[in-house]
Amino acid sequence: MKKKFLDLGKQPIANGFLKNKTDEFFFNLSVGFDEKTKLVSLMEFVSLEKMFNDSYVYHASQSKTMKKHFAETAFNLKKTLNPKTVMEIGSNDGVFIKNFSKKNTIAVEPCENFAKKTNNDGYKTYPSFWDIELAKQIVKNDGKQDLVFSANCMCHIPDILNAFESVKLLLSESGVFVFEDPSLLKMIERGSYDQIYDEHAHIFSVTALQNLLKKIGLEIFKVEQLDVHGGSNRIYASHASSRQIDSSVTHSLKEEESSGLDKFDTYLKFAESVKQSKDELLKILSFYKSQGCKIVSYGATSKSTTIFNYCGITQDLIDYIVDTTPSKQGKLSPGVNIPVVSPEQGFDNSVDVAFLGAWNFKKEILEKEKKFLQNGGLFLTHVPHIKEIKHV
Ligand code: TYD
Repeated sequence: MKKKFLDLGKQPIANGFLKNKTDEFFFNLSVGFDEKTKLVSLMEFVSLEKMFNDSYVYHASQSKTMKKHFAETAFNLKKTLNPKTVMEIGSNDGVFIKNFSKKNTIAVEPCENFAKKTNNDGYKTYPSFWDIELAKQIVKNDGKQDLVFSANCMCHIPDILNAFESVKLLLSESGVFVFEDPSLLKMIERGSYDQIYDEHAHIFSVTALQNLLKKIGLEIFKVEQLDVHGGSNRIYASHASSRQIDSSVTHSLKEEESSGLDKFDTYLKFAESVKQSKDELLKILSFYKSQGCKIVSYGATSKSTTIFNYCGITQDLIDYIVDTTPSKQGKLSPGVNIPVVSPEQGFDNSVDVAFLGAWNFKKEILEKEKKFLQNGGLFLTHVPHIKEIKHV
């Protein structure tokens, strides 16, 4: 049974950028903790078809950081595991698989726009959601897989046990399942409550993952802590008792235990800090607005959908959002309907303050926008607490 600890109110589809003002779908975004498995999940899941369809706008290849991240990941996995067959669940625009041979790599991607793309690029792509029926079909058509990879996708799947069982079914005897998702520990440490939105059905701790995987006969043998997406864990799992357990597993479990991730009280404290962050953010934005400053947001992220809708931030405070993704430009942000424009169009001398909606790309963005800071511009971030950034 999940116990609720945080309510972020009425929220829209986080990546549902709109062509025009229209009646939007809203749901109650609240989060709970399962005392038994230690899993943190949304209290109410949103139907997958509402979020992942042919108008899905998140392109992993849009970011230099993510392209480099996946190229390095692929290189290292090839070197250490030398898999004969590779499959990715949630292959997006092919940013990871394109580092592997077309002959022995298959993809699973429910968003038709991306599935078509990777198919056209020569990678056999199943345009479906991940479940046990699909796993059976793949085993029949393509055989078992030596490497099953998934990035920022497992945490999207409400029935997570079924998803893990489906992986187990198609993992070869010595196969390895590698998946990475935002880390619960980092979210708690950094106060980054904006990791919570419709797509993130769960925010994983290593502790909860170990409990869940154990149930179905998979075992975590290595954990890597990553910087991407605001702090993630990369989990390496295999069939139980088939590999030596690396010390990184115990290290992560101990770290999570000492941060209280197994206790409900930790989450109640986190919920208090979220309320405080909201008050402080509204205070600082209102202050700059009252000084006549022009405030924009940098990066039309799903994360900022949570913040803007939870804090009630509209065009009264933020004039517009700048974002490099063509499919988001010219649209309105979900819920609060703030316009999105390209940085070329909107990030000019008239801007005084920029809220860092894409704080997870802080380094890349500050580097790119050095001139803005040198000319007296100011970035604002809420991670790990409300802070002004005046220098690179
Ligand atoms: P992302 O980190 O994927 O956030 P979420 O998972 O919360 O949606 O999105 C980053 C967004 O920021 C994406 O729309 C691209 C945009 N962006 C810029 O506009 N400029 C940049 O320099 C970078 C790195 C990202």
